[in-house]
Amino acid sequence: MAKILVTGGCGFIGSHTIVDLLENGFSVISIDDNSRSNAFSMNGIEQITGKKVKNYKVDLKNYDETRAVFQENTDIAGVIHFAAYKAVGESVAEPILYYENNLFGLINLLKCVDEFKVPDFVFSSSCTVYGNPDTIPVTEASPIKKAESPYGATKQMGEEIIANFTKRGTCSAILLRYFNPVGAHPSALIGELPIGKPQNLVPAITQTAVGKLPKMFVYGNDYPTRDGSCIRDYIHVCDIANAHTLAVQYLIDKKNKTACDIFNLGTGDGVTVLEAIQTFEEVSGVKLNYEIAPRRAGDVIAIYANNEAAVNVLGWKIKSDLKEMMRTAWAWELKIKEAEEKVKNN
Ligand code: WQD
Repeated sequence: MAKILVTGGCGFIGSHTIVDLLENGFSVISIDDNSRSNAFSMNGIEQITGKKVKNYKVDLKNYDETRAVFQENTDIAGVIHFAAYKAVGESVAEPILYYENNLFGLINLLKCVDEFKVPDFVFSSSCTVYGNPDTIPVTEASPIKKAESPYGATKQMGEEIIANFTKRGTCSAILLRYFNPVGAHPSALIGELPIGKPQNLVPAITQTAVGKLPKMFVYGNDYPTRDGSCIRDYIHVCDIANAHTLAVQYLIDKKNKTACDIFNLGTGDGVTVLEAIQTFEEVSGVKLNYEIAPRRAGDVIAIYANNEAAVNVLGWKIKSDLKEMMRTAWAWELKIKEAEEKVKNN
């Protein structure tokens, strides 16, 4: 049973990926310093899969502590690297925080992958590497334009670092460029747990709908799009998770075409912010209290994926549509509210 190290395993996509890996016969360990995640996710993983996953509460910026995990687990067959900060807006305000965390962490990890001869590496990249694309949908060969945010720049640099690292031939990598991961596991036992005010659209929607936020803001309705709001490619987090399992197996089976293959992970459907809100209202039956606000720095106007490579080469099958994304996101938010009320009443 191949052992996979998942960094950021307590996070949103990391926890869902661990569930998918376990359900597909892999054994898993996690490194997560819980600076932006909740160790509670491990309970949800155990409730869903019946399997306990060890999380090493280590900051990847601490090389010695990171190396100690590899020393204790010399049988790591592959690494899936999620641990990074990922809020576009915050990265504009705090660029050094993003460069330090996202790049130092990656470099320490690759030093350990090299020393302990880990053969396979999957990197959590992002459609933000495309910047503001001239033509959409974007393919993996679309030009990498100037990143619109420091977050996007750290993903571009991360891809460059990994591409150069794999040229040595000791490790093969896959770069997975996510579009907008949303939703939650159908069990509502794991999901997105934003710390503080949610930066991303769907948690902002669900927290407003549940009454945690008095209202939410639509950042701009004066873009050159069909209804003036930005277009994104929302993809269910469980579909993203399964793509990671397929990617690891693809590397283990040595099916990769190059030392660093790239795949877009999106549905291929562009959805505007206002359409996403409308779908949520249909699915939840809740009228959302939102206001149009000025544009947000760092936002690209419109982007969605050409996902043919992931579908045809990785064998990726997308199972959930936008309604299912909103349905599971809402069910998760209601579960959080129920748990918080239970704590308050005890
Ligand atoms: C989407 C749209 C906002 C909040 C995300 C991740 C990033 C990467 C790419 C994986 C934008 C608008 C948002 C709100 C709003 N994913 N919005 N009101 O910026 O596309 O980036 O996907 O790597 O990590 O952050 O996602 O959800 O922040 O914004 O109007 O309260 O929703 O302006 O147009 P984004 P997002």
